[in-house]
Amino acid sequence: ETNTPYHFTDKPEAEKRIVPRQKFSHKGTFGHAVLIAGSFGKMGAAVLSGRACLRSGVGLLTMHVPACGYAIAQISVPEAMTTVDDTEKYISKSPDLNSATAIGIGPGIGQDPATVKALEKVLEKAKVPVIVDADALNILSTNRHLLFKLPANTILTPHPKEFQRLAGESSNEFERLEKARAFSSKYKVIICLKGANTAVVLPNGEVHFNSTGNPGMATGGTGDVLTGIITSLLAQKYDPADAAILGVYQHGLAGDRAAEARGQTALIASDVIEHLGW
Ligand code: APR
Ligand code: MG
Repeated sequence: ETNTPYHFTDKPEAEKRIVPRQKFSHKGTFGHAVLIAGSFGKMGAAVLSGRACLRSGVGLLTMHVPACGYAIAQISVPEAMTTVDDTEKYISKSPDLNSATAIGIGPGIGQDPATVKALEKVLEKAKVPVIVDADALNILSTNRHLLFKLPANTILTPHPKEFQRLAGESSNEFERLEKARAFSSKYKVIICLKGANTAVVLPNGEVHFNSTGNPGMATGGTGDVLTGIITSLLAQKYDPADAAILGVYQHGLAGDRAAEARGQTALIASDVIEHLGW
């Protein structure tokens, strides 16, 4: 062990974080994830994150979707419960969070002013770990007072463009990483800087570079899959740092298996979900 803040998540580093399932467990043991996702025309993001969440071991999943997404969610993710928003095309309120053990918010939600209010409400009510992704991150960038409402150890999963909106322009990878470390320690959040070697940045300054994944994953929807995986791990009571590091690793591993099965070019986000499992 050295003093460097840089770590590398290889197979042993990932696997040591896995908590084995006990024989006398039941679905209550594995938590209740609440995923707040989707809007008109972007219900696929909700479906992908919901399916990935279930494939990552959660006990129960509730998906909160806009009214137009009710049948879509029930048919496409039959294992999940669905609650509908009052609004037809987007999310305008927080769902019931009382039985949640983790909350995922963002995939496909858009940035309607009513959705900004809903995000604010969710952050105020949250008593369990939260992961914020996609348009929920863009909402944070344009409503910066909400950054101060993020519960400690909230996980943010920006791609480079989303991170730039949050933290400003970087002229190179190193500068971006340093910006992420400063942001993480300032707001006490965990940042998964997504890309070819996703870096998980912790509030204590540690950076964990992932070893799995491939360019076949550069296709719409794979980010939503990651959100589902990490929400699932959080719901199962994985420590947020472990959920981020392990989730990013398992996402890339499933992507590598999917690329093995059908090549990188044909790979789509659903294939990543089909290859989850450990
Ligand atoms: N190598 C390894 N992994 C990669 C590579 C690569 N070359 N390219 C992408 N990935 C992985 C990233 O690490 C990340 O986990 O694929 C995922 C892509 O996530 P996003 O960029 O968030 O893409 P996605 O969410 O699927 O895109 C749909 O939602 O977030 C918005 O702006 C985004 O319009 C986009 C939409
Ligand atoms: Mg995304």
